[in-house]
Amino acid sequence: MELNIENRRYIGNKRKLLNFIDDAIKQEDIEFNTFGDVFSGTGVVAEYFLDKGKDIYVNDILYSNYVVYKAILSNEKYDEEKVKYIINEYNKLKPANIKENYFSDNFSGNYYHYDDAKKIGFIREDIENKYNNKEINEREHYILISSLLYSIDKIANTVGHYESFLNKEPEYKNFEMGFMNLKKYNGKSYIFNEDANNLVKRIDVDVMYIDPPYNARQYANFYHLLENVAHWEKPPVFNKAKKMKRDSIMSEYCKSNAKAVFEDLIENIKAKYIIVSYNNTYEAKSTSSINSISYEDMINILNKRGKVSIYETDYKFFNSGKTNLDKHKERLFICKVGE
Ligand SMILES: C[S@@+](CC[C@H](N)C(=O)[O-])C[C@H]1O[C@@H](n2cnc3c(N)ncnc32)[C@H](O)[C@@H]1O
Repeated sequence: MELNIENRRYIGNKRKLLNFIDDAIKQEDIEFNTFGDVFSGTGVVAEYFLDKGKDIYVNDILYSNYVVYKAILSNEKYDEEKVKYIINEYNKLKPANIKENYFSDNFSGNYYHYDDAKKIGFIREDIENKYNNKEINEREHYILISSLLYSIDKIANTVGHYESFLNKEPEYKNFEMGFMNLKKYNGKSYIFNEDANNLVKRIDVDVMYIDPPYNARQYANFYHLLENVAHWEKPPVFNKAKKMKRDSIMSEYCKSNAKAVFEDLIENIKAKYIIVSYNNTYEAKSTSSINSISYEDMINILNKRGKVSIYETDYKFFNSGKTNLDKHKERLFICKVGE
């Protein structure tokens, strides 16, 4: 099974909006060599421009996303045959021969079947051992973890995130690990894992693309399990959803001070153009889906940095059940800084 950067369920990913973003950039006649994507999520937007030969700055507060960028978007050396051989060996493992472990103790009977969970936990531990014993280099380490993250996500007993698991026993899926498809890019990539508000003070780009969360729903809650597997520090997990402590990855953009945090971000960006993705969930009925920053706020904040143009399209979006919006508009605000 080959895995590509976009073969992943991720709330708010812009996979289907890449042409919309590219068209808007062309419409504005923006010429650029460097592209920043500091709330990069899956990384698909940055990857799109890296593939076109641009240099990218890619970042997310979640380590599980950083691991994927280091696997797919980095220029460091790796041995493809070696990685494929290791994955092949993992896929031959028989659950009956594997002992219980951290992953099966915590994530079987909820997100995974016991036999799949034992295999997943064994593989993650083995990747760490291989890295510590210097059998694999850093890039190979990231490629193996990413391949594991993408593969376990495909068989999880969920609707696509880990806020909760489905109300049925997880089925045995005979877990097999796929291989991340890796391309060679001409552009350079600079990869970060930090709060975007700090990072923007240190980088200078032609185009800065901004796609933060706009409501109270924390990505750290949606993807805690992937974050846990990516770090593999085996922390205690709590309550029904089995989340670990995650204070350091809770986003200020999902709290009541979001508007001030956003203003601070925009003020500190060093770029010729600032492009902001925005959608109109502010009409939503569920309080956790209400936008923290209104359309008017957005215009006022960006106007302080330069001239603003707005592009919009219709786009289907994630719906948690309570929210019922027929017309969902996805917008892009393009700010020509200093005009
Ligand atoms: C709407 S998603 C981005 C989706 C992305 N454009 C894509 O196509 O996959 C918002 C992202 O911002 C990240 N995030 C939230 N607060 C952040 C912060 N303060 N600094 C950096 N990233 C943050 C979340 O982890 C999430 O991945």
